[in-house]
Amino acid sequence: MTQWHDVGEPDDFPDQGIWPVRIAGVEVAVFRLGDELHALHDQCTHGMARLSDGYVEDGCVECPLHQGLFDIRTGEPRCAPVTQAVQCFPVRVVAGRVEVAA
Ligand code: FES
Repeated sequence: MTQWHDVGEPDDFPDQGIWPVRIAGVEVAVFRLGDELHALHDQCTHGMARLSDGYVEDGCVECPLHQGLFDIRTGEPRCAPVTQAVQCFPVRVVAGRVEVAA
């Protein structure tokens, strides 16, 4: 069953930023792209790096260690050396609160 977790208000997540949150013991990186909020597992699939320490560009997050790119909307790899998708979590806004399912 999907469990939704409150992570804050929409204004806590300004555009093009990355915020690390921990929900149910899982490290998650929350992103805003314009009006959209997205959440990915905060661990690169290539090595021991946190995506929340990376950079946002053109709808992707760049890993800070070897500059692999992941699509923020889907978690799919977009640039070597990453070849495996990172887990993507559903995000919703309910009654002015941002919730992530994990
Ligand atoms: Fe992320 Fe290598 S650890 S690209």
